[in-house]
Amino acid sequence: MAQNTSPSRYTITAALPYTNGPIHIGHLAGVYVPADIYSRYLRLRGNDVAFVCGSDEHGVAISMKAKKEGVTPKEIIDKYHAIIKKSFTDFGVSFDNYSRTSAEVHHKTASEFFKKMYEQGDFIEEETEQLYDDEAKQFLADRFVIGTCPKCGHEEAYGDQCENCGSSLNATDLINPKSTITGTVPSLKTTKHWFLPLDRYEDFLKNWILEEHKSDWKPNVYGQCKSWIDEGLKPRAVTRDLDWGIPVPVEGGEGKVLYVWFDAPIGYISSTKEWAEREGKDWQPYWKDKDTKLVHFIGKDNIVFHCIIFPSMLEANGDYILPDNVPANEFLNLEGSKLSTSKNWAVWLHEYLEEFPDMQDVLRYALTANAPETKDNDFTWKDFQARNNNELVAIFGNFVNRVAVLTHKYYGGEIPTPAELTAVDKEALEALKEFPETLSKSLGRYRFREASQQLMNLARLGNKYLADQEPWKLIKTDEERVKTIMYVALQIATGLAILSEPFLPFTSEKLKGILNVISNEGEKSIEWDDVSSKATLLSAGHTINKSELLFRKIEDNEIQQQLDKLEATKKANAQMDKEAAPLKDTITFDDFAKLDLRVGTIIEAEKMPKANKLLVLKVDMGLDTRTIVSGIANSFQPEDILGKKVTVVANLAPRKLRGVESQGMILMTEDKNGKLVFVNTDEDGVSNGETIN
Ligand code: 2FM
Ligand code: ZN
Repeated sequence: MAQNTSPSRYTITAALPYTNGPIHIGHLAGVYVPADIYSRYLRLRGNDVAFVCGSDEHGVAISMKAKKEGVTPKEIIDKYHAIIKKSFTDFGVSFDNYSRTSAEVHHKTASEFFKKMYEQGDFIEEETEQLYDDEAKQFLADRFVIGTCPKCGHEEAYGDQCENCGSSLNATDLINPKSTITGTVPSLKTTKHWFLPLDRYEDFLKNWILEEHKSDWKPNVYGQCKSWIDEGLKPRAVTRDLDWGIPVPVEGGEGKVLYVWFDAPIGYISSTKEWAEREGKDWQPYWKDKDTKLVHFIGKDNIVFHCIIFPSMLEANGDYILPDNVPANEFLNLEGSKLSTSKNWAVWLHEYLEEFPDMQDVLRYALTANAPETKDNDFTWKDFQARNNNELVAIFGNFVNRVAVLTHKYYGGEIPTPAELTAVDKEALEALKEFPETLSKSLGRYRFREASQQLMNLARLGNKYLADQEPWKLIKTDEERVKTIMYVALQIATGLAILSEPFLPFTSEKLKGILNVISNEGEKSIEWDDVSSKATLLSAGHTINKSELLFRKIEDNEIQQQLDKLEATKKANAQMDKEAAPLKDTITFDDFAKLDLRVGTIIEAEKMPKANKLLVLKVDMGLDTRTIVSGIANSFQPEDILGKKVTVVANLAPRKLRGVESQGMILMTEDKNGKLVFVNTDEDGVSNGETIN
C-alpha cells in the first residue's frame, strides 16, 4: 500500500459530550462528523490512528439534570451514555474507543494527574469567598449560578462561561447572580480551593500558540487564544465544593471534587488507555511520543479549555505532547434560531433515524456541505432536501446506478475489455487520478466542507462523462466503443467508492458491495492512494453485483412534517415562557412612584463592536439625549429602529457595558412568536420626555 509521508501516528480526540441529554445535529456537525471524516481518511492512508472519545459524566450539568428529575446522577449518566453511544454507532462515527469519565481507569488517571501536579507545586491553595445558596446549603459555581455577563451584558451568563460572547468567567464575576437551584440571591462564604496559576504559563502559551501556530491554526481559534492571552491570564480554580465528581485526592480535599473541566480532557488519555489495554497496545506513544500528532475536534465554546488550560496542564505534567491543531468549529443554528437542548430546539439524532431510517449518510453529507467551519451556519430542512435530491440522488446515485445497471444489461455484470482509449477517456481517467490529492489537501487543512464538494465533483465528472458519451445510444451502432466507455465509467465509480468512505461510510460500503470490491484487507483491496497511482482499479473480467439504489428522493411532505414539528415546538416554548413568568411580589404605590418612565425617540443606533447582542443607542428624551446600551442587536438592525418611539426607565443608575456608560433602559416585551418588540406609545402628539404614570 502506498504510504503518505506525513507522521504516521495520530491521536484524534472529539469533545466528550455531557451525558445530560441526547445529542443533536449541532454536535454532529461541529465535532463528530469532521473528526470522523478525518480519522477515517487517515486510516485509509495507512496511518496509525487512535480516535478516542467518551461521555463527560461529572460536573454541574449532570447534577442539575438529576435534581430536576428527582433521580441520582448515576441514573442520568447511565441513561444518556447508552443513548449517546448508540447514536454515534448508528451514524458511523468510528471511534476506536468510546469511554466514560465515571470509569475506574479515568478516576485513577485524573487523580494521579492532579496528585503529580500537586506534588510538583503546580497549584496555589487559597481560601476565597464563593457564592453560596443558603437555602440549598451548597456552594454555587459554574451552571449553578446565572447572572449578567460583565463583558457583554448578556443576562443569562453562567458562572463559568458566557455563551453569548464566549468569555470564560468565574461565578463571582457575574453581575446580579442568582442560584439556578432555588432562584435566590447567593451570599458569600469562605472556602478553600486549588488554583491553576495560568499566569505562570503565559510565556509558554505565547510562544507555543502565538508564534508556532500563527499560521496553521484556524483564525477563529487563534484569535480567541490571542485575546485571552492578551487580556492576561489569571489563576483558575480546579476544584469544587460539590458531591458529584472525582474526589480531590490530597489532604484537605475531603468533600471536594475536581473541576469537571480539569478531569474531562484527561478523559482523552483514559480512553486511550482503555483502548490500548483492550488491543494489547502501549498507550504511551499516543500521548508522549513527539512524532505523534494530537488533534482535538471541538466546538468554539471549548476553545479556552483545549488551547489554554489543558495544554498548561499537559505542560506542567511534563511528559506529554501538545495538540498539533484544534480545528474548532463555530455553531450550527436550526432554521434561524440557536440550537437548544432545554428548549427542545434541535433535530435529535435518535429521532432523525426514526423518521429517516438508513439515511445517516444524507445527514452526514448535508451537515458537512454546510458545516459551520468559519462562521455560524444555519441548518434548514429545505437545504437538507436539496442536498439530498439535487446532489446525492441526482448526481452521485444517478451516476452509480447507470453504471451498474448498464454493466448488467450489456455484459451480465462482467467488466468489458476496453478498446483503445480516446482523448476524452484519458482525460476522464487523468482527472480521476487527481482527486485523492485534491481531497487530501482540503482534509489536511480541516476543510471538510470544501472536500465534500470535491467528492461531489468526482460524481459530477462521472455523470458528465456518461451523459456526453451516451453509451445507451451507441450500443446500437458501436458495441466496441461502449465497452471502453463502460470500462472508464466503472473506474470512476470505483474511485468514488474508495474516496467517499470518510464522508459517506454507509454508501461507500454499499457501493463497494455493488462493485464487488473490498477496501480494507485482502487481495482485492483498493486503497486511497491507489486511485491516483494505479492505472486500473477494476480489471476487465471482474464481475460486479446487482445494482441497488444508494439514495432515495425526499418528498416535500416529509420536509413539511419536520417544519410543522418545529413550529409546534416554537408554540409550546412561547406558551411555557408565558406560564414561566409568575407575577412578582406586590409593591406599594410609593415603590412604583420611584420609577421615572419617559417617552423618547431613538435618533442614532449602531452595533457595539465585538458584542453580538448589543446596540448603542442615542435617545432623544426631550430635555436631554441619552446614550443607552441595549441587548437587542439579535432582533433589530440599527437602521430599522431610527425614529422609533420607546419607553425609557430614565432614573436607573448608569452602568458601564463594554466601556460605554448606559444611561437608562428601554422597555421591551415579546410578541406571540417570542420576537422582541418595543413597549411604546404611538399616539400622535406624545412628545419626548413625557412621563408615563
Ligand atoms: O462542552 C461540552 O459538552 C463538554 N462536555 C466538552 C468536554 S471536552 C473534553 F475536554 F472532555
Ligand atoms: Zn458575555
